[in-house]
Amino acid sequence: MELLQIAPLRSLLSHFRFMLTLRSQEGHYHSLILFRLSANQDAQSTESHPPNGSSDLDRKQIYVMEASCPHMGADMSHADIEECETGMVAVCPWHRYDFDLKTGKSEMGLHACTYDVEVKTDPQDSVEKVYMHTPTKGTRWRLVELRPVSEEFADPPPPVAPSKILPQTMYGNGEKEPVTPIVNPPKTLMEWAVLILNTPNPTLKVERTRHAVDLFRTGKLSSIGHKSVKVPRPPDVPSREDLYEKNTVDPRKMKSRKSLAVMLHALANIEQWAIDLAWDIMARFGSQHPNLPPAFFSDFSKMALDEAKHFSLLTSRLAAISPSTPYGSMPVHASLWESAAITSQSLRSRLAIIHLVHEARGLDVNPQTIERFRRAGDLETVKVMEIIHADEVTHVTSGHRWFTWVCAQQGGVDPVLAFREEVKRGWRGDVKGPFNVEDREKAGLTPHFYEGLKGEMDDLLPSTPQRESPPLGAGLQGLSDKLASIKVEYDPSA
Ligand code: FES
Repeated sequence: MELLQIAPLRSLLSHFRFMLTLRSQEGHYHSLILFRLSANQDAQSTESHPPNGSSDLDRKQIYVMEASCPHMGADMSHADIEECETGMVAVCPWHRYDFDLKTGKSEMGLHACTYDVEVKTDPQDSVEKVYMHTPTKGTRWRLVELRPVSEEFADPPPPVAPSKILPQTMYGNGEKEPVTPIVNPPKTLMEWAVLILNTPNPTLKVERTRHAVDLFRTGKLSSIGHKSVKVPRPPDVPSREDLYEKNTVDPRKMKSRKSLAVMLHALANIEQWAIDLAWDIMARFGSQHPNLPPAFFSDFSKMALDEAKHFSLLTSRLAAISPSTPYGSMPVHASLWESAAITSQSLRSRLAIIHLVHEARGLDVNPQTIERFRRAGDLETVKVMEIIHADEVTHVTSGHRWFTWVCAQQGGVDPVLAFREEVKRGWRGDVKGPFNVEDREKAGLTPHFYEGLKGEMDDLLPSTPQRESPPLGAGLQGLSDKLASIKVEYDPSA
């Protein structure tokens, strides 16, 4: 058993719950939740605490347990914590089974994995740090994600509250639809996914995403619904409002970015598609792979929520720096959905192209985008972009995790070879650098995956006519006709 450093104790005083993702040298993933039960939430306060900001209670009341309920896989991040005769228990939000935080035992006979925690002073820098005992299956575990579970939508809060976003977009026909439809309200996560994909208004899409994920996490939606015989089908292309379609242009004809407002608008457009991509992967492939565990839906619903948060943060910044150009007033493009359509037949292909090529490319280019905002003196947007970048590392991690899972399901196919095959089949041209090797590696993408890699989609489809691509605006309906002639590249600021 190894001891893994989680973080300095002081940095865990900001929140009471943290999500942890570990990856072993062998490529196994483990999602965990850390509960800190002491009341101290003010790392700056020294009144009742020693100079380093932590108390004895802080040191003793930290627990780590698996993030999925062993009964049916509910996300335990919103479990209630209760005190009972034998100690502290986490109560699952779905069926209320309780699990002892120390031993993992439940009165119902189930057992959740828990991990011993130690707080020690690091002799190198004399800082108190939190360590955990690692899982026994696998070696050289490393922490690839540590993020607070926040009740806030944006963390830190957005410059403008999400409820104020509506006037900042040009979309909306005046009459506000309710977040939960009055007729046929969705009952499962799959039904919410399809409803959100069919929601054209971006503000309502964001609100529905927040609501659906909250219902799912808090146990008010206790069924994913992907094994049902009546799983609703996702649309081929998510709905967009008329104005969006009118403003949609061929990405190659978009003006090179000039102003901060244009950049923010383009980034928000990418995030709107990204919300749909997260719901689409669940809705499209959930029923095709009924053995997908609940953790898959936890990961991708978290991704949908992150993308909705990013959209709200970016449109808030757009409204702050350029009130005369709200979201929807500038040209947009739909190139990200091209890759979704190309990969609509295979989960492995979808994960490879969208999450390990497009999203990984985001890791490469985000630092430059952040620098552009910094040079322009827009430090609020720099903060927003840093939040987005940190989230995107976790999205690529999820892509790698589930890509590896699919490979294991297919009889232990080598993930590196499988990825390179998928890119050859579903991508055109070089997978371009320069690469952000460090952040890619954090997400599980070692250079073996992507170095010297070239897509050969055109060569594999020799009958594809090479023709000029028409604008995509009104053409969202006829998307598939145009796929062959469009070179898809990811540049979140283009
Ligand atoms: S008690 Fe947790 S999923 Fe049923």
